[in-house]
Amino acid sequence: MYDVNEIRKDFPILSREVNGKPLVYLDSGASAQKPQVVIDAINTAYSHEYANVHRGLHYLSNLATDKYEAVRGIVQTFLNAKHEDEILFTSGTTEAFNLFSYAWGVPNLQAGDEIILSVMEHHANIIPWHFLRERHGIVLKWVETDVNGDLDPQTVIDAITPQTKMIAVTQMSNVLGTVVDVKTICTAAREKGIVTVIDGSQSSVHAPVDVQDIGCDVFAITGHKLYGPSASGAVYIRRDRMAEMRPFIGGGDMIRDVTRETVTYNDAPHKFEAGTPGIVQTIGMGVAIEYMMGLGLQNIADHERMLRDYAQTKLSGLNWLNIQGNSATKGAIFSFTMDGAGHPHDISTVVDQKGIAVRAGHHCAQPLMQHLGVTATTRASFGLYNTTEEVDKLVDALELCHDLFA
Ligand code: ALA
Repeated sequence: MYDVNEIRKDFPILSREVNGKPLVYLDSGASAQKPQVVIDAINTAYSHEYANVHRGLHYLSNLATDKYEAVRGIVQTFLNAKHEDEILFTSGTTEAFNLFSYAWGVPNLQAGDEIILSVMEHHANIIPWHFLRERHGIVLKWVETDVNGDLDPQTVIDAITPQTKMIAVTQMSNVLGTVVDVKTICTAAREKGIVTVIDGSQSSVHAPVDVQDIGCDVFAITGHKLYGPSASGAVYIRRDRMAEMRPFIGGGDMIRDVTRETVTYNDAPHKFEAGTPGIVQTIGMGVAIEYMMGLGLQNIADHERMLRDYAQTKLSGLNWLNIQGNSATKGAIFSFTMDGAGHPHDISTVVDQKGIAVRAGHHCAQPLMQHLGVTATTRASFGLYNTTEEVDKLVDALELCHDLFA
């Protein structure tokens, strides 16, 4: 494991105060803070190395193109994809799944085909499939989590019928922290020719990922959760699946030739990346991923497991706190409600006065809220820079809340 106090010095924002107290940032599940190397890379890109990519033959355009395209190889390594051209750049997971819905779903699915989803999906892994339901008659089939918030892979496999064409599940719940055995699901799906779409927005931040080992068709990551810039991201799409996709957004860069009557398209991956992309965001995401790999993905996972165990012990000691989900495999994400307290927003407002940032609301996972029988929760989500002292501060602030409200 690494020395977290040394690591914290890499993140300038962590030394600021909020409401007169040192910031305790427990909202990395929503968006993670950025290390200085990422901020510097953004600054350098705009100050010294900026031009459009893929378009010019001049020095700066070539330099920006090389830096931008190099990130494809970084993401390939990060996810252990077989081929670099299986990586598409996106603005995040939301764009990735909308892209797949339009580019693969519309031409390859027909009315009556089924997509299996778990109830703990983020709306990004729900709404693009609802579009297919509304507009093309695709049927959404939901599988439930158990009382601990675990998703038994067998429940997903048992839901498969001859009409099942796709399974879309998260590898780690953004609300409960539950980790899903997506490999077992993907193995069973592959045997039946069913496409698998995995939401890696949370899981890729907290532990090493190997898409070849998982055996999925699609795996999406989000740069701003990976300590990179907002509006950056990437999606792995296996070559044979990408070959079944039709271009989604049309415009510059994705074409080979255009006449008044016809258009021919560029090769993948550029065929699916129209227009001027998030050049600097993508370069920043590459630096962020290299920063994480430099720390060691397993070291990050080990540090966060220690935080999870510590927080689990401390928070379970508060017998008026209702922690949602109790999976043995969960990551360092805790969602809860409090006996006697009003809305979870009240809790976040009180702890904010102590400099503690947590998220309250439905966390873009309303079907899960309905399944849990709550409208909202307060969520503390930990990142590679959090400490056990910060868990203690959260516990103190929650005790204050309980004294105020209960
Ligand atoms: N998906 C992000 C979250 O869980 C925004 O907070």
